[in-house]
Amino acid sequence: MRAIVVQEFGPISSHKIEQRPDPAPGAREVLIDNHAVGLNFPDALMLQGKYQKRPDRPFVPGRDCAGTVLATGPGTSRCQVGDRVVAQVFTGAFGERVIAPENRCFPLPEGVAFADAAAMITPFNTAWAAVDDRAAVKAGDTVMVTGASGGVGAAAVQLCRARGARVLAAVSSAEKGELALRNGADVLIDTNAADLATLKERLREQVAKATGIAEGKGCDAVLDTVGGDLFEAGLRVLRFAGRMVIIGFASGVIPAPRANYLLYNNLSVLGSPLDIRFDKVFGEVERGVSAWLSLLAAGKLNSNIAASYDFGDFAAAFDQITERKVAGKVVLRFNR
Ligand SMILES: NC(=O)c1ccc[n+]([C@@H]2O[C@H](COP(=O)([O-])OP(=O)(O)OC[C@H]3O[C@@H](n4cnc5c(N)ncnc54)[C@H](OP(=O)(O)O)[C@@H]3O)[C@@H](O)[C@H]2O)c1
Repeated sequence: MRAIVVQEFGPISSHKIEQRPDPAPGAREVLIDNHAVGLNFPDALMLQGKYQKRPDRPFVPGRDCAGTVLATGPGTSRCQVGDRVVAQVFTGAFGERVIAPENRCFPLPEGVAFADAAAMITPFNTAWAAVDDRAAVKAGDTVMVTGASGGVGAAAVQLCRARGARVLAAVSSAEKGELALRNGADVLIDTNAADLATLKERLREQVAKATGIAEGKGCDAVLDTVGGDLFEAGLRVLRFAGRMVIIGFASGVIPAPRANYLLYNNLSVLGSPLDIRFDKVFGEVERGVSAWLSLLAAGKLNSNIAASYDFGDFAAAFDQITERKVAGKVVLRFNR
């Protein structure tokens, strides 16, 4: 099989596609004939050795893929040969054949395309944890999503809308705003500001206008993928008993909120990790995947695929992400 192999960490263009023997599934693992790969920002970090975990070299990177089950290992019970599945693995998705633990594989409903599922699994699993579990968003809630045109942000916008919430999409440009609106956002919040004090004031004004609540504390929840100043300013638009959900730090800045502000304003701050959920609350992960795949099959969600590249052109595909050229998701296809 062909696979992208990291012999040593380095620039994305330094990695090559190599011929490798097909891997064999071990206990409770499946072998997938890969049809589509979804690219995520952390994949780019992984190839360069900048991700928080650095696997032993050589290895095949990649986390999101979709295809058909070719073989199953001993003790497998959730997947059968021939099943169409989407998988979220830690490494190995950037190959024509992928080994996945069976609890990282999920059956695809009829009619759902491999590329859509591969593009959605990490963003939608992450957003599902934040929307359903941590923020417990319900119909009628007002929710602000930061980084609302990013992979996870756009997924959160869609999932909030699907359950009847009013969604305020915080974005930095008109182009990104368009993507958020296409995903169902009700109102755009402009995040451009010269400093933190101005950002706090501008966010409060815009949220007050959007929610009609004069003192500017109108959101039931803020789902934050950006961190830094946006997190700090986001706390200021929460109502009494509002929930701030920490999803990520795309800005590169980890905020440190003042505990007295949380106390005086009766606020909750909730972490929303994804990976640990596979170990701790697998039933919840499974319920979430099944829910968003059903919404997708019913035509109520979209994958936001903006660019599709041949597997051999992976370096150009990654450029779209690392150069911040693309609004939406990038996928690799195998042309078969
Ligand atoms: N909790 C988890 O388990 C989990 C899982 C997956 C990802 N994450 C994290 O969630 C965050 C978002 O991931 P994603 O895949 O949605 O990323 P993405 O597609 O690259 O989107 C990130 C968004 O953040 C905004 N942003 C603000 N400052 C930025 C900066 N300095 N550099 C890049 N983007 C910036 C951008 O929108 P604007 O320009 O409009 O602000 C961008 O659209 C990342 O920190 C990621 O590591 C967490």
